[in-house]
Amino acid sequence: MVRITYDKNRQLFHLENGSVSYVIALAAGKYPLLLHWGKALRTVHDDLLARRCGFHGGEFTLHETPLDRLPQECPVFGWGDMREGVLQARFADGSECLDLRYLRHRITDEQPDLGDMPSARGEHSKTLTITLRDETTGFEADLHYTLWEDADVLGRAMTLRAAQEAVTLERAYSFALELENSNYTMITLEGAWARERQWISRPLVPGRQATGTVRGASSQQTSPFLALTAPGANERTGEAFGFALCWSGSFASTVDVDQFGAARVMMGVQDFDFAWKLSPGEVFHTPEAYLAYSENGLQGLSLACHRFIRAHVLCGPYAASERPILLNSWEAAYFDIDEEKLCALAAEARALDMDLFVLDDGWFGHRDRDDSSLGDWVDDKRKLPGGLKRLSERVHGMGLKFGLWVEPEMISPDSDLYRAHPDYCIHSGNRMRVENRHQLVLDMTRADVRAYVTEAITDALTRAQVDYVKWDMNRNINMIGSAQLPKERIGEFHVRYILGVYEVMRTITSRFPNVLFESCAGGGGRFDLGMMTIMPQAWTSDDTDAWMRCRIQYATSLLFPPSCMGAHVSAVPNHQTGRFSPLKTRAAVAMHGTFGYELDPAKLSAEEKTAIRACNRRVRAWQDILLHGEFYRLQSPFETDAFAVMAVSRDRSRAVVTYVARETLPNTLPSLLRLAGLDENADYRDEDTNLVFGGDELTRRGIPLPALHSDYDSVQFFLRKVEKE
Ligand code: DGJ
Repeated sequence: MVRITYDKNRQLFHLENGSVSYVIALAAGKYPLLLHWGKALRTVHDDLLARRCGFHGGEFTLHETPLDRLPQECPVFGWGDMREGVLQARFADGSECLDLRYLRHRITDEQPDLGDMPSARGEHSKTLTITLRDETTGFEADLHYTLWEDADVLGRAMTLRAAQEAVTLERAYSFALELENSNYTMITLEGAWARERQWISRPLVPGRQATGTVRGASSQQTSPFLALTAPGANERTGEAFGFALCWSGSFASTVDVDQFGAARVMMGVQDFDFAWKLSPGEVFHTPEAYLAYSENGLQGLSLACHRFIRAHVLCGPYAASERPILLNSWEAAYFDIDEEKLCALAAEARALDMDLFVLDDGWFGHRDRDDSSLGDWVDDKRKLPGGLKRLSERVHGMGLKFGLWVEPEMISPDSDLYRAHPDYCIHSGNRMRVENRHQLVLDMTRADVRAYVTEAITDALTRAQVDYVKWDMNRNINMIGSAQLPKERIGEFHVRYILGVYEVMRTITSRFPNVLFESCAGGGGRFDLGMMTIMPQAWTSDDTDAWMRCRIQYATSLLFPPSCMGAHVSAVPNHQTGRFSPLKTRAAVAMHGTFGYELDPAKLSAEEKTAIRACNRRVRAWQDILLHGEFYRLQSPFETDAFAVMAVSRDRSRAVVTYVARETLPNTLPSLLRLAGLDENADYRDEDTNLVFGGDELTRRGIPLPALHSDYDSVQFFLRKVEKE
């Protein structure tokens, strides 16, 4: 049960759910300070209070006790604090001063109202809102804290309100969290197209360490997530803190280590080119951010995040259900498609016992390459004489579901839409419009553009029988400009763009509640919690190479459960890396995500086809735990030449273990792989070998690995608890 209490005498807020506690003190009744975030506390001793706050209970003057030394919940530059804070607000007279002091608080069972910002669902939670006010300007900040009953995760967000004076927000992050020391290792997820979310670890050092993007998307290059591990912490033990932002646009994520060695963690919408005007009475909501805690290392942190995301972020009928095994036309045919070829692919998919055929790019306008037609969501009758309607009927007639690719936010200069509405794209006056992948970005801050996109995509999804949609987005935003947004509001562009995208996505997903939506952004360019509040899975990366996927999926699992990660088996040599890996390895890796294929089945041998049918039977039989079970990382492809993970059913009666070796070494001793998450008092039988092992020996000693025969070879174990007689 979640309890939020306020001890009036000691001016102390305590949020706890029996597992974790978050304790805030009001310094001299004015400034909220963090006393504790971590394992649940029963009480907070006066001494702790006094030490952490320095002066608690005493008379507070900004001159004698500068805020620079204190762990503030809403730090703002000035008033004695010499560090960067979560807020920067400029008033009409040019001043940036804010002295935000406690005004009131509210404890409720309801979620905070964050307007159109994405957030987790609030069931089984309680929220504390502390309102701070700057007396001179009347400016107010609501600090929202939501704690869930079933998750070691705290939601943080702010609502900022102008009063008698208009104000321009130049920074409005979602939270600050002050740690007493900086003896932590920081882990972030950095990368690029086709090698998204690589696991990067570094010790915190004095000064500012920052990640973030200015691209208009959460991006392939980095990720709105960071973790901190305490000294000695590792995958299984020790304290770990996680921070994630529920936002799909440009963001900032920083850890500032100050002169006293304290660390201030902050995250929020990117402030680099941000300026949001508030007239008196108007509010700005920040996106929600999540603070996760574990005393069981990074594995414990990930388990907490996965449970939270499953229970409170993912939505729709597919969130907790099995996902169709699909064949996607992209790597099978790219733009070289027509109705007969697509039907032949679909027929192969059916023969190989798949569930869904997905028509990727190339079906609309006159799109024979990537240089035209985005925005013209009309059937290309040269390729589809019977349109999407007849194709989808033929696919359904084979007993398959039908899926469709769209890229709604984009416009090709060579399109009827562009010829009719050249002002619909993001552009800066008469300057050159710089294309990327031959395309421009639609100005989603405009209501008329959003209406066009919503109706065009609705029409496409209505004229065919569509069961699945892949919503792609293949370029980032620069050269900001809008034909409609007033020039004094251009600093609001990036945030308004993403809010516009969310609005269109929410409208379309609610019009088609039974369709499975997968977000995509040139691979994993918007693999973030904001997207996951609307679409329950995302294409993890355009890189379908098995070994690259080991790395990408392994690191992505720090925050996301496998059910969020689109993962497909593709052909060899791999189209991105040129690498050969065995079919069984490609399948084993893809099984730890939403499973499908991205190849031309006609090019497979009879033996491979038999293997694929068997693999699909396996996936169906084990998908409940592969997608929705507890996911454990066993061996890191970033630290070793192997990748090992496992999925365990919640009742610990079944488990799938996957081990991939990057290279095979001759003449080695047999090795053991230690498992996790099993019932140590039970025995488990491996489905393939019939060998029985004790849960304790699998956990403490490990499962014997067979000899592997080639680079990127792999082995899987499908374990079932042996019922006692
Ligand atoms: C990028 C996606 O990530 C690919 O899977 C594919 O859909 C292409 N776009 C199509 O243009």
